[in-house]
Amino acid sequence: MRVLALLVCSLALEAASPFLVEPYLQIGDARGLQKSETFALLWHTPEGSGGWTVEVKAGPVWKKGIGWKKMPPPASRRVAVSGIEPHLVWRAALAGLAPGEEFQYRVLEDGKQVFISRARARKSAAQPYRFVAFGDCAAGTEDQKQVAAQAAKQDPDFVFIPGDIVYTRGRIAEYRQKFYPVFGPMLASTLFVAAVGNHDAGNRDLSSSPDGLAYFYYWAQPLNGPAHSSFASLEGPEEARNAFRAAAGVNFPRMANFSFDYGNSHWLILDSNPYAEWSDASLRKWIADDLAATRASWKFVGFHHPGFNSSRTHFEDQWMRALSDVFEAGGVDVVIAGHVHNYQRTYPLTFRMAAAPPLPIREVAGEWRLDKAYDGDKDTTPKGVIYLVTGAGGARLYDPEQTGNRSSWKEFTAKFNSRVHSFTVADIDGRAAEFRQISASGETIDRFRITK
Ligand SMILES: [Fe+2]
Repeated sequence: MRVLALLVCSLALEAASPFLVEPYLQIGDARGLQKSETFALLWHTPEGSGGWTVEVKAGPVWKKGIGWKKMPPPASRRVAVSGIEPHLVWRAALAGLAPGEEFQYRVLEDGKQVFISRARARKSAAQPYRFVAFGDCAAGTEDQKQVAAQAAKQDPDFVFIPGDIVYTRGRIAEYRQKFYPVFGPMLASTLFVAAVGNHDAGNRDLSSSPDGLAYFYYWAQPLNGPAHSSFASLEGPEEARNAFRAAAGVNFPRMANFSFDYGNSHWLILDSNPYAEWSDASLRKWIADDLAATRASWKFVGFHHPGFNSSRTHFEDQWMRALSDVFEAGGVDVVIAGHVHNYQRTYPLTFRMAAAPPLPIREVAGEWRLDKAYDGDKDTTPKGVIYLVTGAGGARLYDPEQTGNRSSWKEFTAKFNSRVHSFTVADIDGRAAEFRQISASGETIDRFRITK
């Protein structure tokens, strides 16, 4: 009887939740560091919901005598696409945050608190920070859950997903099934940043999955990327395309590429899908200008399809190496990709293409120069860019038999592990960076340092 009463009670509580998806943090429009930091807070509700207020309390939970500060009223975006109940994506600003400081926020519906959490504001250039990266994650596997749990243990300042955020087609239904339930508790207190992969944005045909391309509804990332027609292709019935455009608004296609600063680092996030014309001179110039404009100590680039890959699977997909010269000239330290479901690290390298653009959408021919003296331990000053593949975030692993089989690797590969699911942890502290690759069971499978 008591069990039944508890069950009824918990069902009633569940039914009472006003959220389809509980509040989660996003970087929003805050591209550069600010003296008074902001985040965007998003949550999803059924249509007809309203009366929302968001409040912020500065400082850690134990600090007394600080009051709640009311934020400007949240705005909503209506998502009404075939096969899904129309719903609202709410967005509020969390403003007035001291860099690197803990704060609390709460969400009220008609004056009643329905959600509360805490988080840390973006770090200033003087503060050390930690990020975690893993791609190819929300496949709904046990491995995804284990990677998520280990990543949470690292208490990172933010999580970066280099694409293939949600399988199989980045659909609304799939976000609800495999993304929010798994990352939910972390999403409320830790910033997530993402690049789109082929499973998120590669299928532009809305006739087979009208609730696809949900990235453009559910993420709030800077809109400072290039307005280039190659990112704007869309197929399917006119009705589906109109519904998508109405819901995505300014996010499509602008949010496919962007850059932002975190701590003393500049981050450039690109859409590497085959429709993107990165050989185009104007796009190459946009990257060069973006990298030249920053005075940050570190420059990291993130996208989905790796430019350097030794795995037999997806071996042909190495077209992004055509941007190597722009990355080298721009002083990029590390490039983080996914797509190939394992972990790979290259030697620091520079690459010269055999031909001038336009380049094919396959492995781009050319020559690389490798810094084999760099070992990330005693020699920590790489001569060239280090390219990581961290695509072992949850989906089935590729080519495990190549682990330890050096003769199966390209010459540029220094480390290769496809035996275990894993993720990258990086600690950036002044002019030193330490990277570790941690397995789903918490074991360190690679470690390297960079100093400058
Ligand atoms: Fe992929």
